[in-house]
Amino acid sequence: MIKKIIIVLVVLFLIAQFIGPEKTNPPVTADLIADENVKLILKTSCYDCHSNETVYPWYSDVVPVSYLLMNHINEGREHLNFSEWENLDSLKKEKMLDEIWEEVEENEMPMSSYLKLHPEAELSAVQKEVMRNWAAGKNSN
Ligand code: HEC
Repeated sequence: MIKKIIIVLVVLFLIAQFIGPEKTNPPVTADLIADENVKLILKTSCYDCHSNETVYPWYSDVVPVSYLLMNHINEGREHLNFSEWENLDSLKKEKMLDEIWEEVEENEMPMSSYLKLHPEAELSAVQKEVMRNWAAGKNSN
């Protein structure tokens, strides 16, 4: 009985691999303009979920992980998309910068599940300071 259940589960898992979500990277239309050190931090720690330049890891091909990842990416882009940043008016930019610093200060972003697989995305104290100055509109150099 248990053997049969396992076989059925394995077959279902294999079939599921054919119905993975679509991995997208829409064109970059209005990428954020910022100092290089700011961009580097964002690219390393945020762009996988908040831009149209997502780097998809190999496990993003494996159902059901793929659905989980696509969910984070789609939701992340919906809230904040650096690839469309320069289309925002200055008021929206300012509000979003406040949100960004809030998330970073409270260690809400990058998402903790992401950091487990991307330890290089963890922000150091110095990187946080760069983010803080950028979000406050100060020159971070
Ligand atoms: C693994 C994917 C992922 C990464 C990496 C990530 N985010 Fe997010 N982010 C999300 C998701 C999903 C949401 C929306 C749900 C939520 O708020 O938890 C979000 C929401 C946000 C919001 C809230 C936007 C709003 O509308 O209020 C901000 C600000 C934000 N992220 C900033 C960042 C910054 C800055 C980084 C990098 C330091 C980052 N995120 C890295 C997935 C991610």
